[in-house]
Amino acid sequence: MAKIKTLFCCTECGGTSPKWAGQCPHCNAWNTLEEQAEPAATGQAGHRYAPLTQSSPLLNLAEVEAHELPRISTGIAEFDRVLGGGLVAGAVVLIGGDPGIGKSTLLLQALIAMSGQSRVLYVTGEESAEQVALRARRLGISGDHVDLFAEIRLESIQATLLRERPAVAVIDSIQTIYSGELTSAPGSVSQVKECAAQLTRLAKQSGIPIVMIGHVTKDGALAGPRVLEHIVDTVLYFEGDTHSSFRLVRAFKNRFGAVNELGVFAMTDRGLRGVANPSALFLSRHATQVSGTCVMATQEGTRPLLVEIQALVDTAHVPNPRRLSVGLEGNRLAMLLAVLHRHAGVSTSDQDVFVNAVGGVRITEPAADLPVLLAIMSSLRDRALPEGLIAFGEVGLAGEVRPAPRGQERLREAAKLGFSVAVIPKANAPRQPIEGLDVWAVDRLQDALDRLRQK
Ligand code: TYD
Ligand code: MG
Repeated sequence: MAKIKTLFCCTECGGTSPKWAGQCPHCNAWNTLEEQAEPAATGQAGHRYAPLTQSSPLLNLAEVEAHELPRISTGIAEFDRVLGGGLVAGAVVLIGGDPGIGKSTLLLQALIAMSGQSRVLYVTGEESAEQVALRARRLGISGDHVDLFAEIRLESIQATLLRERPAVAVIDSIQTIYSGELTSAPGSVSQVKECAAQLTRLAKQSGIPIVMIGHVTKDGALAGPRVLEHIVDTVLYFEGDTHSSFRLVRAFKNRFGAVNELGVFAMTDRGLRGVANPSALFLSRHATQVSGTCVMATQEGTRPLLVEIQALVDTAHVPNPRRLSVGLEGNRLAMLLAVLHRHAGVSTSDQDVFVNAVGGVRITEPAADLPVLLAIMSSLRDRALPEGLIAFGEVGLAGEVRPAPRGQERLREAAKLGFSVAVIPKANAPRQPIEGLDVWAVDRLQDALDRLRQK
């Protein structure tokens, strides 16, 4: 087979260059050029695109037949939930996470659960067949019907997939697979991108759903970088604290379902076990109310989740006080402190402020603003918030409290778990009272702080 032509692509700006250079000629970044396969020219020589005469017919949107896609259940309910109901024929799923977080374990469990009904193939490039078998034995699951293929050459994997036609295939991991047609080393951007693109093409043509496992680099991007996110249909990330015994899988992109759906698993010596009702998981239990904590009712995909937000405000010993947030957005913290100063007259300019979302959850929604500010005020005044209090709501730069989506569901979940006071945006106030829940609907940050002071 003729060697395919390659060019060098910048991982920063995407610019290409026919020759390698230390500095990208387009964006001047250093050491960012990586070799990759040049897209094949189609049509007439010298033209990248098909001749203009061959175009596909125009369709009327209303007349295009569209069916609800049949789903293949993975046999693990929480995994199905993040996938939007299960795998779809021909779909390519990328699942990323830190090393050792449980990617291989989850996929092996899923394949074994599926193997009863369908033919499944596990391609292992990272571990030997013995290691995979040992793991299955350790987990106490038998893989009688799982086909195992220890291979890292792309061409051989493609041939095997086409010959065996499994109902589902898992590639563990995409970074270990290499194509003999590229000269760069396995794991390099060009190899990862090319292998992922080839496998995606194969999935689309053959209808075999492929799940690719990918590693995440220290800065959080999938190694062999974000380019993969555009190629595949669904991107899932493992998140959460590696030291806790819970694992969260979040849908980051999904062409076949909702994003931000969250799957919650507990780690056991028998593998990952789905947690069907995780809302109380991220609350630390204090024997008595302590200062500096506030429970937030957040909404993850289709389900509400209660998460404890902790804050610590302490005298700063350096001229630039520190603002640090774990699991919450760092820039937002500085903004909220400015709002607190400007609209509630509370200054923290000589204080270090730390905030943390308990349990390693990452909260990106702005509805965390109000609970963050309440926790900060509680720590600053060293006064615990009333027992059984939850809060949510976005705080604007003008000091106003803005509504959050699906307020009623959050309130109902809080009431179900025995919370008795809810500090929420006025626009989210329920029309009918919720049993057992005293609702403080506030318009402005100042209102919320005033009510708390009266308590
Ligand atoms: P592994 O699935 O290999 O992580 P990854 O593929 O993301 O690198 O899991 C790491 C180790 O943790 C492995 O030795 C098995 C063990 N483990 C359990 O014992 N129970 C569990 O529930 C999970 C998820 C992992
Ligand atoms: Mg692994």
